Amino acid sequence: MNPIELETRYCAGNYAPLPVVLARGQGAHLWDVAGRRYVDMMSAYSAASHGHGHPRILATLAAQAQRLAVPSRAYYTDRLGSFLAELCRLTGLDAALPMNTGAEAVETAIKAARRWGYRIKGVGRDRAEIIVADGNFHGRTTTIIGFSSEPDYRDGFGPFTPGFRAVPFGDLAAMERAMTPDTVAVLIEPIQGEAGIILPPKGWLTGVRRLCDAHNVLLILDEVQSGLGRTGAWFAFQHEAMRPDGLVLGKALGGGVLPVSAFVARREVMEVFTPGSHGSTFGGNPLAAAVGLEALRIIEDERLVERSRVLGDHLLERLQAIRSPLLTEVRGRGLWAGAAIDPAHATARLVCERLLAKGVLSKETHDTVVRLAPPLVIARDDLDWALDRFIEVLRELEHGRRDPVAA
Ligand SMILES: Cc1ncc(COP(=O)(O)O)c(C=O)c1O
Repeated sequence: MNPIELETRYCAGNYAPLPVVLARGQGAHLWDVAGRRYVDMMSAYSAASHGHGHPRILATLAAQAQRLAVPSRAYYTDRLGSFLAELCRLTGLDAALPMNTGAEAVETAIKAARRWGYRIKGVGRDRAEIIVADGNFHGRTTTIIGFSSEPDYRDGFGPFTPGFRAVPFGDLAAMERAMTPDTVAVLIEPIQGEAGIILPPKGWLTGVRRLCDAHNVLLILDEVQSGLGRTGAWFAFQHEAMRPDGLVLGKALGGGVLPVSAFVARREVMEVFTPGSHGSTFGGNPLAAAVGLEALRIIEDERLVERSRVLGDHLLERLQAIRSPLLTEVRGRGLWAGAAIDPAHATARLVCERLLAKGVLSKETHDTVVRLAPPLVIARDDLDWALDRFIEVLRELEHGRRDPVAA
């Protein structure tokens, strides 16, 4: 069996991969098993923001793996503290709880918010409520999918955890109406990634901050995808003059090689955790901590935040200049763009398949949005080359529709 047949035969069918078998990566390029080179315009949903096989990440990974990898947090290590200190410095928050995947860090935030609600705010036992946004994506655990507004994510997986209330994303008045004395937290993405790179109205985040302050409610931002330079700022919340009480980070924190995530928060929030109240065998292991710290340092040393802002402006400018009946909207910030495709003309999947055939790797989100989110290290020429291919695909599909033979 070839790799596609093998994977199809032995792997659960919970993904629908594009038909390419990848074998190697370097920077913003990936190669398939036949040696064909592709420009990566997806960067593993931001997990490969540093590019594939970053030499400093690989060196740190190898050196730390040889020293000490996973002793568990039953002991202190000489790596965890400095990693978390750097996370606190960069976020302006006080303490961090290390986990592995994004969903685990979101679960950590939910536990922190609930316990804070009971122990600090004084909410009655088991009455805590968390406000979330329609269109949210925070991961795939049973609790998290329970407050998803996407039927496919929920179907067949109930019963779900109570204690969540959804309001329209970007609607401040609806959020205020949803607040009750039992509300302990608002949990939102500052820009919704999986929903299709949806930006809220300007000033919304500061408005949410004000609401949370007025109602003694924690504001928790999930920046698993938007954080660490993706939007042209270290964190998307920095585009507005506000700071959350808790911040969820993941993906790029692992430098493209490991799952590394963290919940970072104000001290009062983090202090609700006591020994035994939360944990993870792998969370905070010295291998992850060493890689995580190096991942943060690289973003700083290579000025990847600024790079994302400058190249991101260029990406958006070029996308916005495209005149095509297929393209209904372009949204984005930094090196993170969503191109909405008119379903009357083509699915986003078809566009991604055509891009693949031309040597560009992207991935649709839902049926209508092509996500363009290259590694932050991408060269301007590679970005332009990939955009030229995107324009070509749009043109070809326009033609295909007019030409009954091709259609
Ligand atoms: C905003 C956000 N939160 C959480 C997650 C879940 O992260 P993971 O897949 O590492 O559990 C994702 C993944 O796409 C995400 O985009």
